[in-house]
Amino acid sequence: MEVALSDKEMEKLFVDKFGNDLRPFIKVRAPGRVNLIGEHTDYNDGFVFPMALTRQTTILAKPRTDGVIRIASSLEPQVVEFSIDAPVKKDPPKWSAYPRGVAEALRKKNLLKVGMDALAYTDVPLGGGLSSSASFEVASGLAMLTVNNASLAMPELALACQWAEHHYAGVPCGIMDQYISAMGVKGHAMLLDCRDLKPRQIPLDNTQVEFLIVNSNVKHELVQGEYTARRNQCHRAVELISRAFPMVKALRDVSMPMLEECRLNLDPVVFRRARHVITENQRTLDFAAALEAKNWKSAGKLMYASHESLRDDYGVSCPELDALVEICSGVSGIYGARMTGGGFGGSIVVMGRHAAMADAAATIDDQYPRRTGLQATHFVTTAGPGAHVVSGLAR
Ligand code: GLA
Repeated sequence: MEVALSDKEMEKLFVDKFGNDLRPFIKVRAPGRVNLIGEHTDYNDGFVFPMALTRQTTILAKPRTDGVIRIASSLEPQVVEFSIDAPVKKDPPKWSAYPRGVAEALRKKNLLKVGMDALAYTDVPLGGGLSSSASFEVASGLAMLTVNNASLAMPELALACQWAEHHYAGVPCGIMDQYISAMGVKGHAMLLDCRDLKPRQIPLDNTQVEFLIVNSNVKHELVQGEYTARRNQCHRAVELISRAFPMVKALRDVSMPMLEECRLNLDPVVFRRARHVITENQRTLDFAAALEAKNWKSAGKLMYASHESLRDDYGVSCPELDALVEICSGVSGIYGARMTGGGFGGSIVVMGRHAAMADAAATIDDQYPRRTGLQATHFVTTAGPGAHVVSGLAR
């Protein structure tokens, strides 16, 4: 379970874990994220529309004079230790893959001269599809840079963290999670073109709509394999469609008429996967325009359509997520709801009027356990800031 620690508690835990004085120390933060729409589009050069949560991973760290990184977590018993004087080892425990991978990515860029003693804690729900791992990666990277007085542009840090996820955690993710964690702006959602990585920050009007995050508390064992399978199906679609349309480099380049023209050459499952990506890209652009125009009803409809497409064409929902979306759709003042993140469990995001949030939460608490035998957990969120240094080293 996620925990919120006060500054004092965290400082005490640091001394307990490392047995030494904390000063001088630095403190950095990086948020989890919720994706409002644009799912499974990032690795297809498409569009995503995430916002940073106000829940984040915090790291408190003290620079060392040698090339050793010792890292502890408020959620784990052991202190992990590794060297940055040579390629960083891929040793257990599993959770250490994130800081190890990020350290290796930064080491290869010659940015790290000294290590650190560091303690991480988070109030991003783990395994809830809200990118707790990306927030850990980005916070780890920012802590390493800060103790070294080194700087790296945030988009570069995001790419280094994605590299760590691919090569150390073994997950072939897109760029969305690390990018929004590094680049989020308070009060804004980010429309990101994953081809040129150009973000557009779009203000969210909190006085009129709010977002409720509902964790289904379903954790699917097969997520990683299914995710890789979807990526492969998208590659297959591109391979086949580009025979007829050589300019096609990714599903981003394919329109529905082009896909229809290639239908007979595509396996029906591959066809449906491609249809999801193509229609989801358009929904994402339309959603951003609807939010800018404060047309909440149209935006909400696009969220429901996105959920249906993820369920029926992309095959990444599950009965519990479907039940949550259906329950919310019956609550007055709710404009839209959909699964968010990779799928197969995790969370849904619900958009509605401020006054409808409590009703939606109560209806979920009443109906979800009866329908699924599970309890959901939920919280209302606004868009928080991206990764930042709370206190750095005095120069
Ligand atoms: C996971 C990945 C992201 C993205 C989403 C689906 O969160 O880490 O890169 O592909 O799934 O939209």
